[in-house]
Amino acid sequence: MREITPKKIIERKGKEKITMVTAYDYPSAMLADKAGMDIVFVGDSLGMVVYGEQNTLNVSMEQMVFHTRAVAKAVKRALVLADMPFGSYEVSVEEGVRNAIRLIQAGADAVKIEGGHDHRELVRKLVRMGIPVMGHTGLTPQRYLRLGGYRLMGENEEEIEEILRDARALEKAGAFAVVLEFTLADVAKLVTEEISIPTIGIGSGPWVDGQVLVWHDLLGIYENVPPFVKKYADIGGMIRLALENYREDVKEGKFPGKGHYWEFLDKDDFRKKAQRALEMLEKD
Ligand code: KIV
Repeated sequence: MREITPKKIIERKGKEKITMVTAYDYPSAMLADKAGMDIVFVGDSLGMVVYGEQNTLNVSMEQMVFHTRAVAKAVKRALVLADMPFGSYEVSVEEGVRNAIRLIQAGADAVKIEGGHDHRELVRKLVRMGIPVMGHTGLTPQRYLRLGGYRLMGENEEEIEEILRDARALEKAGAFAVVLEFTLADVAKLVTEEISIPTIGIGSGPWVDGQVLVWHDLLGIYENVPPFVKKYADIGGMIRLALENYREDVKEGKFPGKGHYWEFLDKDDFRKKAQRALEMLEKD
């Protein structure tokens, strides 16, 4: 069992901020774990940042299982959380349960679903079965078509009520935490005060119990990132520069240089060996 458990995440509320980052493969998960992240999250955002899709609607269970397995192998300490992709839990509670089991069997410690009130029955069932669940409200990217794009949530009473209803339903159903995505910070603060389980914000301001960011966004792999992201590095720029340098070195004959290849020190010895090898080849 990994050191960070859902119970420990709940105990952090009001005491210590929770840190969460996405990771989709072995090396990134290993680095996230070694950096001391509390939660390493295999998000369905992989559809966009890894597979180049325009949204997350085409992500399959197979992809989630595949990436969860790689991440789970790398993480020793953090809690491994896996996203339930669009279409894997909406049709029936039974199907949701079956798919959640697949993610747990791939090595996840918990699953995340988008929405709250609409899926309270599924959350209750999973928790009763022993599968910890994190909810997700505010901007829910799997409802991208209904929302008409990715936008700030919680500007009117109806949206605030929906977010609060989701959060309360998740708390009541036994979820151990809730992601609040791209809501006005005051709404995130209100939700954080209203429920006893931790809130984890993304683009929702500082008055929450923890933060989550997408790996590629915070590391600056891509130039364009959502407006709420702080880029902590320019890894995309670093990779590009390294590749340009490598390309130039090859073109100019600078790579491989001394130290990156091995040669016969005695060229006469080599000539003799090569001659014999050519003769043997002729005889064959
Ligand atoms: O899939 C994802 O990366 C997410 C985060 C934005 C919370 O759901």
